[in-house]
Amino acid sequence: MQAKIIVLPGDGIGPEVTAAAMEVLQTAAEKFNHKLTFEEHLFGGCAIDSQGVPLSENTLAACKAADAILLGAVGGPKWDSPSASVRPEQGLLRLRKELDLFANLRPVKVFPALIDSSPLRRERVENVDILFLRELTSGIYFGQPRERKNIGSQETALDTMFYSEDEVRRIAHLAFETSQKRRKSVTSVDKANVLESSRLWRKVVIEVSGSYPDVTLHHQLVDSMAMRIIQGAGDFDVVVTSNMFGDILTDEASVLSGSLGLLPSASLRSGSLGLYEPIHGSAPDIAGKGLANPIGSVLSAAMLFRYSLNLDEEARCIETAVQNALDQGARTADLADSNTLTTTEMTGILCKLVLDA
Ligand code: IPM
Ligand code: MN
Repeated sequence: MQAKIIVLPGDGIGPEVTAAAMEVLQTAAEKFNHKLTFEEHLFGGCAIDSQGVPLSENTLAACKAADAILLGAVGGPKWDSPSASVRPEQGLLRLRKELDLFANLRPVKVFPALIDSSPLRRERVENVDILFLRELTSGIYFGQPRERKNIGSQETALDTMFYSEDEVRRIAHLAFETSQKRRKSVTSVDKANVLESSRLWRKVVIEVSGSYPDVTLHHQLVDSMAMRIIQGAGDFDVVVTSNMFGDILTDEASVLSGSLGLLPSASLRSGSLGLYEPIHGSAPDIAGKGLANPIGSVLSAAMLFRYSLNLDEEARCIETAVQNALDQGARTADLADSNTLTTTEMTGILCKLVLDA
């Protein structure tokens, strides 16, 4: 098959990890006789510097016409002033909204070879295999009104946490469908004891669950979920939640695996176009030093094969290569103190293992 992939390396370590993911994708594509073409575009802080905006119309149009998008990371201290009117993150939010990428899949697994890198005791992280489904195009990130204004002598600020039934319904359906192929358990996370938007969320999720009698539905309030992730993450299969709760809980859960550098994500809509990115940020402190762990980006590339190109065997080949590399003791600097590999050395090992797998 043939596919066109738009690559948005972005800022900080973004270019290093997307280069690694492209190399692994290309290696796997050749092995299985597929033809991938890559087209790089500026995005984020570097696009602000050269084009004045984080996401140009030209880049947006290229993304809309692609088969899939591979993203590195955006942002950094250079563009971080609280008074800045143009910010790298705006590009990411606009891209999600314009492409209607409402479903953010963030799998959190603990590799057996890395159990001792986890800050939690072995028995708390063995068997962790959670698929977070974060709603990505609504909620408090996008709700209107959103403003700063003076009331009397006070400066005030307002954000709106908005959800419509349809927005909750589509992510809920995806959660149940996904869980049917896994352990048939969905945990919906909300704050229904306080928030009206959460009461709507819960009502709609319960309605949708009626169509999936084979899947068990559980509810957790977000504060107690934060606790359960530390105390018993092994209990969860698919976790579905709103935009901001998902943002916070997935950062928390990522720590279980031993390094934020390991975790991939996919942002999907109906149809096959998707955006794939590691969940780590641009890590400006280590950018350009060859220290970044490419695995989060490489596993995102595996998700790209699976969800946008419908190439499951190719996806599993990459995932097996990652697991074998870790089993053999290959470690970047985030995972060990000595005998560590650079980003390119790790990438070389992964490519070789893709060919061997
Ligand atoms: C993420 C990031 C983004 C978010 C930022 C960079 C806008 O934290 O993808 O989790 O909050 O969604
Ligand atoms: Mn985040």
